[in-house]
Amino acid sequence: MELRELRESDLLDLLDLCSRTLPLDKFSINLLKHRIFQEPEHRPEYQLSLWDGDKLVSVMLGGVRTSEEGPAPAIRLFATDPAYQRRGYATQLLNELINRIQADGMKTLRVGGSAPIYFWPGVDVRYTPAICFLIKHGFQIADVRCFNMEVDLLSRDWDTSADEDRLAREGFVFRRLSLDDREEFSKWLLDVWGSTWQCEALATYQNEPISTHIALHDGMICAFASYGGTAFENGFGPTGTEEQLRGKGIGRILFYRCMRDLRMLGHEKCEVIWVGPIPFYAKVADAKINRVFWVLGKQI
Ligand SMILES: CC(C)(COP(=O)(O)OP(=O)(O)OC[C@H]1O[C@@H](n2cnc3c(N)ncnc32)[C@H](O)[C@@H]1OP(=O)(O)O)[C@@H](O)C(=O)NCCC(=O)NCCS
Repeated sequence: MELRELRESDLLDLLDLCSRTLPLDKFSINLLKHRIFQEPEHRPEYQLSLWDGDKLVSVMLGGVRTSEEGPAPAIRLFATDPAYQRRGYATQLLNELINRIQADGMKTLRVGGSAPIYFWPGVDVRYTPAICFLIKHGFQIADVRCFNMEVDLLSRDWDTSADEDRLAREGFVFRRLSLDDREEFSKWLLDVWGSTWQCEALATYQNEPISTHIALHDGMICAFASYGGTAFENGFGPTGTEEQLRGKGIGRILFYRCMRDLRMLGHEKCEVIWVGPIPFYAKVADAKINRVFWVLGKQI
């Protein structure tokens, strides 16, 4: 067995491994490339893989997110080929990852909560063997309140023209984010919403079409809604309306615009990621809580 850092040329093998071990999720080459090789604070030495000849046996993909409290290492994705499970391979990778993180002076490790840019808020509880694996290795459950909500995209047409006309009379304009907005949008995101959402919303510039819609008031950006910038391609979020403008229906219009796009792109379901205001999505889109995630962590 060879243990080495994952390379971009391994993407096809990784896609095959993820597709076979993580059936609740839909991976693609593009998605894995963006989320793993173009993540913020990319640390190749924490992205470990184990090979049996040219067969990818197991991966343990770690990363670091730095906040005001300092650097926080996290496991972002891990999986072992079904034919190789229960033979200690994930354990081997975990131990190596912990050694490397300890050598860099960090003392905690968590699974989940690795915003910006992640696959899941934590471990989907239905990936139960993964939770058993983590508990065996001394991880403790730190948070059980992470949810996604599912929207049935085929249930309506997501038309917003009447509401947009109503708000146009108050000076609001709704449109897709454009390349020319980049500088203003980036600054506004940082000022109003902070660096995490700034990173995730700007990541939607990588998508075709750009997967963010904005509202402007008197020519100034005042609200946004993004999809496909973090987590999976049909994932909605982040979104925000400036506080003094809430309650006018702006957030709903932007959300519907995103749902319309996702439906046109061929998706039947959208997942609102790591909610947030559960009653809002239940009310405006009849969204249902469909996934529950646990964040686990331990001292190392
Ligand atoms: C979780 C996973 C990576 C473990 O890989 P692995 O190489 O089999 O793990 P190891 O052999 O190193 O460790 C196995 C230990 O984990 C626990 N475990 C793994 N599968 C288990 C299962 N089905 N039921 C109960 N415990 C399980 C046990 O404690 C086990 O030790 P044991 O075999 O001595 O009883 C593997 O089950 C997997 O690929 N699952 C799908 C991917 C996934 O859910 N990833 C999480 C999302 S990021």
